[in-house]
Amino acid sequence: MVFPLLDKLAIAGLHAMDAETAHGVTIKALKSGLVPACRVRQDPRLRVKLWDLDFPNPVGMAAGFDKNGEVPDALLKLGFGYTEVGSVTPKAQPGNPKPRVFRLPSDEGVINRYGFNNEGHAALRARLEGRHRQTGIVGINVGANKDATDRVADYVAGIEMFADLASYFAVNISSPNTPGLRNLQARDALAELLTGVISARDEKTRTLGRKVPVLLKIAPDVSDQEMAEIVEEVLAKGVDGLIVSNTTIARTGLKPDPRRDEAGGLSGKPLFRRSTIALAKARKLAGPDLPIVGVGGIDSAETAWTKITAGANLIQLYSSLTYKGMGLIGEILNGLSRELDKHGLSSLDEARGMNADAWASASID
Ligand SMILES: Cc1cc2nc3c(=O)[nH]c(=O)nc-3n(C[C@H](O)[C@H](O)[C@H](O)COP(=O)(O)O)c2cc1C
Repeated sequence: MVFPLLDKLAIAGLHAMDAETAHGVTIKALKSGLVPACRVRQDPRLRVKLWDLDFPNPVGMAAGFDKNGEVPDALLKLGFGYTEVGSVTPKAQPGNPKPRVFRLPSDEGVINRYGFNNEGHAALRARLEGRHRQTGIVGINVGANKDATDRVADYVAGIEMFADLASYFAVNISSPNTPGLRNLQARDALAELLTGVISARDEKTRTLGRKVPVLLKIAPDVSDQEMAEIVEEVLAKGVDGLIVSNTTIARTGLKPDPRRDEAGGLSGKPLFRRSTIALAKARKLAGPDLPIVGVGGIDSAETAWTKITAGANLIQLYSSLTYKGMGLIGEILNGLSRELDKHGLSSLDEARGMNADAWASASID
């Protein structure tokens, strides 16, 4: 799929199926090893060092693609600098009834309401333990079961279960598809969650001798006041970074399509502007030192560069692969190298946040 013609054929074939079936087929193809490795020139200027991790490049696979940790190594082989498995919940759960994922081709968007369908902690743990060589950066995105009576306890259980296997943790409180989950973004609930999660991590640091970074993944739909409170809590509790953002519940600016009113979270191109503004606002509030992962609507080298200049240390993508195929990763990496050439820069750090002011004050519409 890394060759343009193969990518085009694969996309046409996959789009003949419903979106969830196509996703299953893609996971199977990756598992079978049929997908060739990416032969992109490794540009040392694209390396990113954060915490004690050395990312070969800043482009990661976003959460939700590999919920059960079936294909982390295949994704790394395709050229991703890192991948994030999950969201995973303590118990396996089926998620919402099908259909629950919809393509919006004229907007290059996706709406999903999967609702954290996943095989649970034990199954993910067994898969990750079974990896041949445990190399490469694999983050674990933890969530809470729909029927959990104590959601904080579910996140803490995730930290305790995977601390020895995770390169980093993403704490996902921003899925719109688990009722009430996003209420954890409100100040008091967030403070309680972060206290629990960070103390579980710190406890593990003592036994493992390694501090696993914990990142908080937030929605792009928070108000300015909520964003300010989130960033304050993140800094106060010693959280290691933010992921901005998850999908949006907004539906502004979409072309007519019967599926645009499906319930769920919208991602892909229509999310780009909203999530980039949220990212830049978070960057301005947090200052230059807090690591932030920019995600939402990246579909080219240009949009990847825009996220970095709006304030991202690392980036992730998912929905655009549906429309552009896996060859997009190499295209983005080559394009980022060209951007560095064009601006006469020797690392992405030098570009980070260059345009944060403009993005933070831009209007969404
Ligand atoms: C089908 C689908 C499933 C997703 N599942 C998850 C998930 O389980 N956990 C999570 O944190 N984000 C999940 N996401 C959100 C993505 O990780 C990402 O934040 C969002 O899609 C924006 O990036 P994109 O526009 O490049 O897709 C999902 C997205 C899609 C499209």
